[in-house]
Amino acid sequence: MKIVIINGPNLNLLGTREPGIYGNQTFEQYYEGLKSSFPQVEFDYFQSNIEGELIDRIQKVGFSYDGILLNAAAYTHTSVGIGDALKAIDTPVIEIHISNTFSREDFRHKSYITPLAKGIIVGFGLDSYRLGVESFLKS
Ligand code: DQA
Repeated sequence: MKIVIINGPNLNLLGTREPGIYGNQTFEQYYEGLKSSFPQVEFDYFQSNIEGELIDRIQKVGFSYDGILLNAAAYTHTSVGIGDALKAIDTPVIEIHISNTFSREDFRHKSYITPLAKGIIVGFGLDSYRLGVESFLKS
């Protein structure tokens, strides 16, 4: 089982960015624990603040991996390009959000990813990623 985690803009600042919303842990710290919890999974991780780089990575992994956990962060709410990339690939995508986007500002309620995703996991903190892995393992 090959799973790739793709994180969008500003998620490189987890740990210091708005800790009241996103917590105190860096993604790198969380990722180490996640990998050791699932030794049977081959993980890959990519983060970028640049929309085109996220699209390039989605295209690159979208025919060879078993699952994509995609937290496109702010691009979730704006990116037709990421939506089009998801339409073009075969690998199933689970949309991930750390915070509950539906209890936040209205602009965060719109997602260009949700209609193309297998499912969405929203609002469980960094644990949202673990729940995504569990879901791929069960399917
Ligand atoms: C986020 C929610 C987005 O609205 C926001 O722009 C982010 C992070 C989350 O994981 O909660 O950067 O995707």
